[in-house]
Formats: sequence, C-alpha cells, structure tokens
Amino acid sequence: MSNVVLVTGGAGYIGSHTVYALLDRGDRVVVLDNLSTGVKAQVGKDAIFVQGDVADAGLVKKIVAEHGVDAVIHFAGSIVVPESVRDPLAYYDNNVVKTRSLMQAVVEAGVKQFIFSSTATVYASDAPQPLAEAAAKSPISPYARSKLMAEWMLEDAGHAYGLRHMVLRYFNVAGADPKGRTGQSSPNATHLIKRAAMVALGRLPQLDIFGTDYPTPDGTGVRDYIHVTDLAAAHLLALDALRGGAASVTYNCGYGRGMSVREVVRGVEKVTGKPLPVRISDRRAGDPPTLISDPSRIKAALGWKPAHDGIEEIIASAIAWEQRFNR
Ligand code: UD1
Repeated sequence: MSNVVLVTGGAGYIGSHTVYALLDRGDRVVVLDNLSTGVKAQVGKDAIFVQGDVADAGLVKKIVAEHGVDAVIHFAGSIVVPESVRDPLAYYDNNVVKTRSLMQAVVEAGVKQFIFSSTATVYASDAPQPLAEAAAKSPISPYARSKLMAEWMLEDAGHAYGLRHMVLRYFNVAGADPKGRTGQSSPNATHLIKRAAMVALGRLPQLDIFGTDYPTPDGTGVRDYIHVTDLAAAHLLALDALRGGAASVTYNCGYGRGMSVREVVRGVEKVTGKPLPVRISDRRAGDPPTLISDPSRIKAALGWKPAHDGIEEIIASAIAWEQRFNR
C-alpha cells in the first residue's frame, strides 16, 4: 500500500511547516492549495503541488487516484475571528461547505484517514481552564462554530463510512521554521505575535492591545502560544498513529500555559532590547478572555514532546522570519 499524504492548505502557515516536516523525514506529499492566502514559494520543493480548490471533487478524486493518497491532512480554511464576525456566510462556505465536499470526495475515492485542523475557540468561555478535550463546547464566533460543525461532520462520517480521523484543536500558533524556510506570510495577518514582530521591525507604528478589562491577572487576553514547529510535529505523530490503525480521537495542541498580551509585549522587548510601542484599544469582537490547553492526552497517547516551548524562542523566530519575508 502506498503512503502518500494529501495536504490541503499546504502553502499556508501551519500547512507549509507540516509539509517541510513530512519531507524532512522522507514522506511523499501532495499539496492542494488555491493560493487564496497561501504562498507557493513556501511549499517544499519535493512536494507535488496542485493549485486548486478542496471543493473541486473531480480534482480531489483525480489526485487521490493518480498519487495513491492514503491520508489527508486538511488545513485549508479561513482563520480570522473578526473577519468571520463580519462575513459569517463566507466562513460557513469555506470551512463547512467545502470541507463537506472534500470529505465526500475522499470517502468516495477510498481514503480512510483524515486529520482536521480545529481550534481551541470551540470551547465554552466559562469552561474550567486548562481546557481538556471533554470540556463544554460553546463557540462564540462564526469561525469557531464553523470549525465545530466540521468536527461534527467528521465524527458522523467516521461512524458512517469508516473515515478514521484525528481532530487537532490548535491553541495560539506562532513562530516560524527555525531553518527559515517558511513562516507566517498573510499580508493582513491579525495574530498578536506576527503583528508584534512587525511593530518591532518598524513596519507598523504600534501594537494595539485589544482590551485591558478582561477577567485575567493583568486585564489583557490570555492565550497558550505554541511554536508552529511543535504543532507540525504533532501532525506527523497523528498521521503515524492513524496509519498504525489508531481509532478516531481529538487532541488539544498547546503547551498548557497561559500568557497575557502584556507578557508577550515584555517578551518582545526582551528579545529586541527595545521598548515596543503599544496603544490601548477596545476589546475585539469574538475574543474570549482566556484559552489554555490541557495537553496531557496528546502527550500520553502520541508521546508528543514540545521542543520549542519558550516564548522568547517563538518571538525571535517570528521576528527572524519577518525580517526575511519582505513584501
Ligand atoms: C487564534 C487563531 C485562531 C485560533 C485561536 C485558538 C489566527 C488569526 N487566529 O485566534 O484561528 O482558533 O487562536 O486559540 O491565527 N491581540 C492584541 N493585539 C493584536 C492582536 C491580538 O491585543 O494586534 C490579542 C487578542 O485580543 C487576543 C490575543 O492577542 O487576546 C491573541 O490574538 P490572536 O493572535 O489574534 O489570536 P486569537 O484571536 O486568539
């Protein structure tokens, strides 16, 4: 049986890091990306690249048949919470409707293994922190709802068609490839650490702090920032487990420690040795106060061991990428 993985959204931020991680260990990879936000130059050269849409069932089936795809890692999707609040139907289309179409195409093509990118924002904001996978769900943004809907579809597809799957719920992904091959490149990225890196390099005048009246120790939002390289490694472990026959399961991907916006600002100042200009702004629509993961399940089941678990390392790699990436 052939072992070829189809990576949708492989030209995107997390996708491109995972593609490099797969290629680095010699895996065979096909990338499907419509380049709506992804960057082709960031797709590792040894991957087969197909420009197209995940909802193009004919194309997906052709890829599966031509390359002998046995597993799919589905990264392609829209990820910006405030954008989803402004244009929810676009999010339901891209993250739900197109994901449904992709699932149907791969099931019909005979693929039995599927890894799905979900999010920590599916949990209820009053669920106890750190969040275990079984914690109550109550997504508040259209983005988060779209991801939970896709999780449900996958669960049902798993029961009905034997599509074994792993759902990875990402906490706040940040940083860039330590080898400098790829990083966060969306021109209008909204991520805190990405924007802080842009401010540190003088590309933005100041960093907005969105809300200082949250019920958190210093009043600013608390998140569990995870290095993208550690997240890519989690995907490889999930893939290997599925290929080894593992049952469907959901895993949190975070370090299990929370950091406030102000702590991130101090981290940037430590890395650069310079004060970071900030401006206090109103809360941003759809933002929960705190998201901290309980990662014990993935550590115990897959032996996942974070190797880049330091906020300064994350920030330094984000700044290094930002310096290299100039457009
Ligand atoms: C991010 C992801 C989302 C994921 C979620 C999981 C993106 C675009 N969003 O959302 O897909 O599901 O993590 O936890 O990657 N902040 C500022 N100033 C800024 C930017 C952000 O103060 O300029 C604050 C936010 O209010 C929040 C924190 O920083 O408290 C993190 O924000 P951000 O990096 O945008 O990520 P999330 O919205 O948490």
